[in-house]
Amino acid sequence: MSAGLVPFLQIALDAASAAGEIIRAKWQQPLVIDYKGAIDLVTSVDRESQRKIVEVIRRDCADHSILAEEEIDFKGRESEYRWIIDPLDGTTNFAHGYPQVSVSVALEHKGQVCLGLVYDPLRRECFSALKGGGAMLNGAPIRTSIVNELDKALLATGFPYDRREHADFYLSFFKAFLTRCQGVRRAGSAALDLCYLACGRIDGFWELKLKPWDIAAAALIVAEAGGKLSDFAGGEFSMWGNETLASNGSIHHEMVAVTNPLRAAPNSR
Ligand code: IPD
Ligand code: CA
Ligand code: CA
Repeated sequence: MSAGLVPFLQIALDAASAAGEIIRAKWQQPLVIDYKGAIDLVTSVDRESQRKIVEVIRRDCADHSILAEEEIDFKGRESEYRWIIDPLDGTTNFAHGYPQVSVSVALEHKGQVCLGLVYDPLRRECFSALKGGGAMLNGAPIRTSIVNELDKALLATGFPYDRREHADFYLSFFKAFLTRCQGVRRAGSAALDLCYLACGRIDGFWELKLKPWDIAAAALIVAEAGGKLSDFAGGEFSMWGNETLASNGSIHHEMVAVTNPLRAAPNSR
């Protein structure tokens, strides 16, 4: 682990904490809601949270690039460092007052994610990792679970916003896992789902079409907690790809055996 990253971890923590204060203050308050698609919403709090995170990062890292979910004019900067931000993961939950939301902040150096931080402002749980330095929950080390059979595993998943068009395809994975494991949770924040995998609360996770801001931070946290990430065929994981399969490592081959035959279904995408 590079000690040089530690000051950036403090910046990520300051940014996520400030965003978390906004989310707590606006919890179950009247909201301005806009629609990016039929069911893909964005609230005034997503935007406010993002403005705050960018403001905190810019204070110390004015020359760094930023990739963030909500549109804001960043006047594109070219830097070896790029922050990847989801200011509110679990927007639908937030809009309904369902208490499962997070803030996700990652830092890339020369295209490699080197820092990840996911903050649950309602439970005040902060998951973090520096590359090569292990994963933490509120400063204490975490590891993935030791469950070694899919039959005994608790899994989590989510569904992309184009699910009305591709419901059968997405449900084919859900059905296959539901009938092979102990249970499947769909809680509504992919970043938190992956952090729950990192600390052993669940044993595996899959989802299609996640975006880099959903997973950049949490994927590093899973890897640093001893977990494994791949695509649905067991190939190399990319946060730019369509498929996220993550597990505690021990059940990974069994999960790939479920996803691999289903991924190429006709008319699926
Ligand atoms: C969403 C959440 C959800 C997942 C969706 C994501 P958002 O992010 O992570 O769990 O199923 O695919 O888009 O829109 O709430 O930031
Ligand atoms: Ca998200
Ligand atoms: Ca979001």
